[in-house]
Formats: sequence, C-alpha cells, structure tokens
Amino acid sequence: MRTRVKISAPATVANVGCGYDTIGFALDAASEEIIVERRNDHQLVIKSILGAELSQEVNQNVATIAAQSLLDHLELNEGFDFHINKLFTPGSGLGSSASSAAAAVFGVNQLLKQPLEVAELLPFALEGEAFASKSVHADNVAPALLGGFIVMRSYDPLDYFSLPVASELKVLVVKPQVEIKTAEAKGLIPKEITVEIARNQWGNLASLVHAFHTKDWKRLNDSIEDFIAEPVRKKLIPGYDKVKEIAFSNGSIGCNISGSGPSIFMLFLNDEDRNVAENQIHDHYESEGIPCEFFSSGISAAGCKIIE
Ligand code: HSE
Repeated sequence: MRTRVKISAPATVANVGCGYDTIGFALDAASEEIIVERRNDHQLVIKSILGAELSQEVNQNVATIAAQSLLDHLELNEGFDFHINKLFTPGSGLGSSASSAAAAVFGVNQLLKQPLEVAELLPFALEGEAFASKSVHADNVAPALLGGFIVMRSYDPLDYFSLPVASELKVLVVKPQVEIKTAEAKGLIPKEITVEIARNQWGNLASLVHAFHTKDWKRLNDSIEDFIAEPVRKKLIPGYDKVKEIAFSNGSIGCNISGSGPSIFMLFLNDEDRNVAENQIHDHYESEGIPCEFFSSGISAAGCKIIE
C-alpha cells in the first residue's frame, strides 16, 4: 500500500479579464509541490514549508484546512504529514493558495485509494482557498485541480464546464515586484454595478467563451476587457497600462491582470512576438527601477498530478 506521494499543482491565471471569479486556466509551470505521507496516528502535521513564510499551524494553512475538510466529509480520522514546497510566492496573482489546497486534497485522496473522483474534490479544495482569500471563488482552484480552462457557471450549486484548451497560445506572465493579497484586492471590487456595466461585462464574457470555442483570436482580443476588477485593481500594479500598450503593439491577442495581481498575463500567437514584448517590458520596468520577473508558458490541460 502506498504511504507517500508527491504531487504537483499548476500555477493558474484567474479571471482572464472579463471573467471575474468565473474563469481560469492552468499554466504549464508548477506552482506547488507537496509530499503527503501517512502517519501512524490521527494528526495532520505540516513538517516543512519551503519557498514562503507561511503558518505551519494546521488550522491556519490552506493545505491542511482543505485536507481536513475532505477527511471530515469522508468521516475519516487518518493522520498525514505534509511537506510543502511553494514554487511561486503567495501574493503573485498566480493561484498560490489554490494550488496548495488542490494539491493537498489530491494527495490525501490518492493515499486513501481514491474514494472520490478528482472532480469531487473541488468543494474541499475550495475550503482551503476560502480561508486564504476570505472569499469563495474557484476560478484558481478548479483549474489547479482539474487542469485546462474552466468556467464556473454557479457556486451554489457548484457547476462548471471546460473550454477547449488552446494549446497553440503562448502565455507570457510578468510579475512586478509588489505583493497584493487577494483578500485586500477583493475589498476594492465595487459592491454594486450599473446595468450598463453588467451588460458590457456579460457581453464580453459570452464573446470570450465563443472566441475560445471558435479560435477567433480577434474576438478574444475585443472581448477580454474587464469593467469590474481591472479599473480598480490596476492602480496597485506599477506600469500596468504601459505593459498593456507594449503587449498589444507586439501582437498580443489578450492581456489583463492575472487573478488579483500583481502578475499580468499576455497571450500571443508566436514565440517571436512574445520574446519582443518581454524584452520591451523588461526595459520599461528597468528604466522605472521596478524589479520584475517573467515566465513563459502554455495553457496546460493537466491539473494536479503525481510526480513521485
Ligand atoms: N477571482 C479571484 C479574484 C482570483 O480576482 O479575486 C484571485 O484568487
């Protein structure tokens, strides 16, 4: 019987412009690796955390909160050790806490010999993410767990579907070096919006979904604009408008805030455009004295997976 498993969970881009709390996709790059090991007693213990300063208290860490929620549901009193390795720092806008929650429930489910299907793990992973961000949203957690490009139709009841994975798209992510906590970025979102804004937003969202089905990249570019989160959150991201300008002048077919920021994602149709944009954005941030990091990726069909 297997007693130890190592899981990786992907980084994710949530919101995808006009899909606030509704759409997200998985990236090729892993955000989290977690080793889950059976214990002989009934405790959950976080043995180590690499890559971030996070609480090892089991009721203060998304991984163990999510795992406990799964165990409670299954009415099991099993013990597990967790070794957490964060490959992206929390507060990047790349779904760090979501990947942790997803990897933890996936790993525990594996060691329990899969009492639940992977899709059935979503509500328990959501418990962990809800603790981290003080809000229930699955647009990071669902693609971190299941992979691909996921649209949340409803949270109560939980209902979602997958869009075709546009594997030909090249993603560029730039992360200017500031930290934005999702819980704080959520506080900026207007509590009420006008019918005119809602109309613009749902028109764009419907159009964006259609664009991914038809691979109509002109339509994607026209529809990705966000009228709700982007206008209030972009103020927290240095150089945001300039990055967009550079992206679009180099053939980007979509650019917006990744999750709650500060990372910005850009979609391109070829490596050359992506590389030119990266160089220009790098030069811009350097001239402003703002440190930044880049990474290039594709959209990944894979969510959590066993790597050892
Ligand atoms: N949809 C979430 C938000 C993603 O924008 O707040 C961040 O976790």
